[in-house]
Amino acid sequence: MYDIDKVRADFPILSREVNGRPLVYLDNGASAQKPRAVIEAITRAYSMEYSNVHRGLHTLSTIATENYEAVRGKIARFLHVADEREIVFTTGTTEGINLVSYAWAAPRFEPGDEIVLSVAEHHANIVPWHFLRERQGAVLKWIAPDATGDIDPQAVIDAIGPRTKLVAITQMSNVTGTVVDVAAIARAARERGVAVLVDGSQAAVHMPVDVDAIGADFYAITGHKLYGPSGSGAIHIRAERMREMRPFMGGGDMIREVTRDGVGYNDPPMKFEAGTPGIVNQIGLGAALDYMMALGMTDIAAHEHDLRDYARARLDGLNWLQVQGQSAGKGAIFSFTMEGAHAHDLSTILDKRGVAIRAGHHCAQPLMEHFGVSATARASFGLYNTRAEVDALIDALELAHDLFG
Ligand code: ALA
Repeated sequence: MYDIDKVRADFPILSREVNGRPLVYLDNGASAQKPRAVIEAITRAYSMEYSNVHRGLHTLSTIATENYEAVRGKIARFLHVADEREIVFTTGTTEGINLVSYAWAAPRFEPGDEIVLSVAEHHANIVPWHFLRERQGAVLKWIAPDATGDIDPQAVIDAIGPRTKLVAITQMSNVTGTVVDVAAIARAARERGVAVLVDGSQAAVHMPVDVDAIGADFYAITGHKLYGPSGSGAIHIRAERMREMRPFMGGGDMIREVTRDGVGYNDPPMKFEAGTPGIVNQIGLGAALDYMMALGMTDIAAHEHDLRDYARARLDGLNWLQVQGQSAGKGAIFSFTMEGAHAHDLSTILDKRGVAIRAGHHCAQPLMEHFGVSATARASFGLYNTRAEVDALIDALELAHDLFG
């Protein structure tokens, strides 16, 4: 039984007021709030168990290394990855995708080689591929969403040609919540010998994810959306792709031996983890994943689907609001525009009522262009939101409509 009152009590910030009103936090797509378990894990790590990792033989270094390395296993369990050595720690999805771009793609792309991607990608899954276009003549092939906001997996598969080397695709849009059948895409791509990178930044937060079953080559997540610290994250890389990758950043920890004449590298995944890492950030992420796994991803998804259905019905009742991307199986993320009001104005009015939403292009300008808008307002729900908060959103939108409509 999902006990929403207990869940909310686990997040200290949810009891504060903003502008004299109870906080209604609907900006989870930008970054999620942190449960007490994460805050306490960070405090414990710094106050009792801190040292550098992989380096010292003293007690604190051993404890810190054990705590830090245990997170690799937690991430593997959370993502349903059998071999935790396929998990590379990163500072977030952006670093993970850049790692793939520099370490795997750059050495094997020739001018004219193609990357298939959707118009709904976040800039983190676009700009690293533009680097390859600018520097190495890669060709980007774009798949647009249909009228409901869905990305047809067959359209992605049909775009794979003899020059395609990579499909780079989100599993859930951070703008519309649209869910993409990445397993079907990965299956077809692998039959054609094409690698697949999945941006799991949103999907892993809102639904159970089985990375081994999806069968992609690369699956990136970011900790700050997963109720963990900013600057934490990971990417799953299938072992055979790891063997194809050259190192990205050079420095300590990723080497076995350095001489004046050469360098020998550590085994993966550490080969791709140069320098002192975000030790406590990752420990905090481990606590966040423990928290989510204890709640159960299936129950979290069921709770959020109820919110999605309730919010969809209530938003549909506002005939002066245009909601972008209303596919049936989407996550609880709603982007909308109101005639006569800029998205920034909407956000400002809602903030006066304590309702936090994001306004802007959401790091997805090609999707904004597809919708024919420069910005949207976005309400993105998380595991601690309630139907009453949907009502607070609707009340605040009605106020904005009275002012601007
Ligand atoms: N990518 C984050 C968002 O969707 C920042 O808002």
